[in-house]
Amino acid sequence: MTIRKFHKNNKQENRNVCLIPDSAHGTNPASAQMCGMKVVVVNCDEDGNVDIDDLKNKAEKHSKDLAALMVTYPSTHGVFEEKIMDICEVIHKHGGQVYMDGANLNALVGVAKPGKFGPDVCHINLHKTFCIPHGGGGPGMGPIACAQHLAEFLPTHEIIREAGPKNGMGAVSAAPWGSSSILPISWMYIKMMGAEGLKKASQVSILNANYISKKLSKDYKVLYTGKNGNVAHECIIDIRPIKASSGISEEDLAKRLIDFGYHAPTMSWPVAGTIMIEPTESENLEEIDKFCNALIKIKKEINLVETSKFDKIDNPLKNAPHTYVELASSEWKHAYSREEAAFPTEYVKNNKYWAPVARVDNVFGDRNLVCSCPSMDEYKDEAA
Ligand SMILES: Cc1ncc(COP(=O)(O)O)c(C=O)c1O
Repeated sequence: MTIRKFHKNNKQENRNVCLIPDSAHGTNPASAQMCGMKVVVVNCDEDGNVDIDDLKNKAEKHSKDLAALMVTYPSTHGVFEEKIMDICEVIHKHGGQVYMDGANLNALVGVAKPGKFGPDVCHINLHKTFCIPHGGGGPGMGPIACAQHLAEFLPTHEIIREAGPKNGMGAVSAAPWGSSSILPISWMYIKMMGAEGLKKASQVSILNANYISKKLSKDYKVLYTGKNGNVAHECIIDIRPIKASSGISEEDLAKRLIDFGYHAPTMSWPVAGTIMIEPTESENLEEIDKFCNALIKIKKEINLVETSKFDKIDNPLKNAPHTYVELASSEWKHAYSREEAAFPTEYVKNNKYWAPVARVDNVFGDRNLVCSCPSMDEYKDEAA
């Protein structure tokens, strides 16, 4: 909206095309669309970077109407795009503004100055980087940083009209400074960490992601790395080749992690058929090793499916997670043992998380609101 107002102020209201790489988070095209822009998708190359030729062609084609590029840095593919400065230059050459999605700022704080590589605007998500959990009230919360020429078009609010920007584009939330229940958490975190602490957090996030990427690379294909073989703050493991050779999908793997006591990381985003691991700085080495060992053990189970030592359908991966009801029942119907199902590692034996719910039909669940209260049983048919 700030960019829209900027173009309007320059008598270029026609500029309404927003270029967005296909690796972008869904919130990017959604935001562009919501403020009246037309989204044009830019391809990524096989290394997960923005395809510069495609970007140049599309910027050229929409030169007269180009409003902005929304780009995430480091990218959602978990790489530091080496061409980020060239990317910004292409957009500026065609009269557009560069909006940087700062959701991955935990790879930059204290170690880089995003303003120097060319973006005009950057939102600073508080989740991941500044101590706010996903879904913990963080979404949509945080400051927007911008270059001087856009400052007068930043959001303003009736209550702070005097203090707000001159040509401010209006309110974006009911309260002028956002949520007072969320912001003090990040403020305290920043105060307590200090400049050195924040820099260390970024360094440890990058180190953790690279440690995981290297540790898993013998068993899993890490989808994207930079030229030096490193990732940024996250790594994506590709389950598609495993699915092709064993029938075990990313969902089977994610559900099997529950038997090991883990909530699975992001699945099938930004690439379908993959798992994205974003450790941040907060887990210690012991915890990271434990998590990697769970994934390595799962790969061993997949190998057993591939070599037919486990049945293709009736195996601990396809049936995961195993609930305490099933594990304790007098009848055990599977071709593998209860022990294999419930206690895949020594660690789990002493620290078992007993899953209360077996695999649910995710798609059905997303599309149908079904009350789980027993007295609602009479509505079951209707819901189905
Ligand atoms: C790259 C990227 N952009 C945007 C978002 C959305 O952020 P929010 O939930 O704060 O709206 C995320 C979420 O993690 C993200 O990874």
